[in-house]
Amino acid sequence: MRDGSGLLDDLRDIVGDCAVLIGADMAAYATDWRDLFHGTPLCVVRPATTDEVSKSVAACALAGAGIVPQGGNTGLAGGATPDLSGTQVIIALDRMTAIRRIDPVGMTALVEAGAILKTVKDAAEEENRLLPISLAAEGSARIGGLIATNAGGVDVLRYGMTRALVLGLEVVLPDGQILSRLRHLRKDNAGYDLKQLFIGTEGTLGIVTAAVLRLVPLPRHRATALIAVPDIGAAIQLYTHAQSEIGEALSAFELISGAGLDLVTAHTGQNAPIKGADWYLLIEAGSSLPGLREAAETLLETAFTEGWATDGVLAESGAQADALWSLRESLTEAEGKAGGAIKHDISVPITEIDTVLREAGEMLSRTAPDARLNVFGHLGDGNLHYNVMNVPKADAHRVNAAVHDVVARHGGSISAEHGLGQYRVAEWARLASPTEHDLTHRIKDALDPRGILNPGKVVPQHD
Ligand code: FAD
Ligand code: MLT
Ligand code: ZN
Repeated sequence: MRDGSGLLDDLRDIVGDCAVLIGADMAAYATDWRDLFHGTPLCVVRPATTDEVSKSVAACALAGAGIVPQGGNTGLAGGATPDLSGTQVIIALDRMTAIRRIDPVGMTALVEAGAILKTVKDAAEEENRLLPISLAAEGSARIGGLIATNAGGVDVLRYGMTRALVLGLEVVLPDGQILSRLRHLRKDNAGYDLKQLFIGTEGTLGIVTAAVLRLVPLPRHRATALIAVPDIGAAIQLYTHAQSEIGEALSAFELISGAGLDLVTAHTGQNAPIKGADWYLLIEAGSSLPGLREAAETLLETAFTEGWATDGVLAESGAQADALWSLRESLTEAEGKAGGAIKHDISVPITEIDTVLREAGEMLSRTAPDARLNVFGHLGDGNLHYNVMNVPKADAHRVNAAVHDVVARHGGSISAEHGLGQYRVAEWARLASPTEHDLTHRIKDALDPRGILNPGKVVPQHD
């Protein structure tokens, strides 16, 4: 067993002195994006190769030190923030950024885990291909983090979550072994699909060092509309109709509350082209074939005729479409500037959304009458961010649990896309069945018997 300073020496030998940060240099890595979770790591290690990750993990394992993998540090569940013990080592992938290959024929991208999502998307676009993961943090989030959280975003409706885009993976296991399955295959049923163990498990079973991702054709035409709707029922009717009329071209069906849009205009200096409604939809469709705009116009006309829409704007240009998306993508930032929120990342069957919103609203008016809501999210996926603002800190846990109880009653999930990290692990423990607890622990114990990787995240530590 090595002590802290012995481990620091070992890590410096592996990655070089400059790639081991201590003291004030660790600040940006020790706190999460929302400034909600704060850790005190022993050090931050920034390996440049898979071999260096492997040797760093082996050194930490030998020393019995917990490891916290970190990508872009944009996660919203505190999964990348260490504890306060001063003993945990952050392994940051931010030097492993190579895009090794974009294959426009096989439609794959081979990238290192530290590559930034936007950079990979730009490289794919140069080859007329799209990496269909879109989220407001795409300028900072890194491929390894996206895989580790099985990130969602606004393209899930059409292309699925990150898991659906991972063809091959290279992972460092908790004992330092390297599992290298960087295959460019769309079909591979040869035995257990081992890569699935590391997708969405938030760095608790292995450290992703590289991946092969599936690309899709870059749509040549897109139609983007911001639409005011009278209520959620109308939004669901419009969604159902859009699925029938536009079908597979429909890529985003996002909900924004009037209160949320007001936050954005008040705190980010942007203007909304339509105003005054309780609810808005941001809808996007894309296609390689022409005729999309006409289809979108017909859809809007029907929406007005049927009373599903009260106002709306169909973007006339790419720049206008981007401006509409900017309103949507600024919701999180605006919420932060307005004082933050108790965040929820819930999903329920889409047919239950109206009822869940009503029941959660009734519960809040009883338990937290001063609360204000910032509700937005991926309506087409049945996934809403039911974010509750203006609640005294002392009541936060009670409100959080009460929202989750409503969701659980309707067969929903308390984490649709952000993961459990440390933020939701206790709530998962409260709501999961004994069999889910048992199996989760058996998987963790089998792969990481000493509990080295991301301790305290995802897997409850004491049951
Ligand atoms: P980090 O925050 O660094 O880490 C996240 C988790 O993954 C941690 O548990 C960490 O230990 C683990 N991890 C990181 N890298 C690795 C690795 N190489 N190997 C193993 N484990 C690793 N998320 C969505 O799903 N949909 C959204 O629409 C969305 N929008 C967002 C908007 C904003 C403004 C912000 C700030 C965040 C948003 N997020 C969203 C959350 C976040 O961007 C995603 O969770 C993203 O996948 C995190 O990537 P990251 O590289 O920043 O990971
Ligand atoms: C989003 O959909 O914009 C996000 O998941 C971010 C958030 O929940 O704040
Ligand atoms: Zn989201």
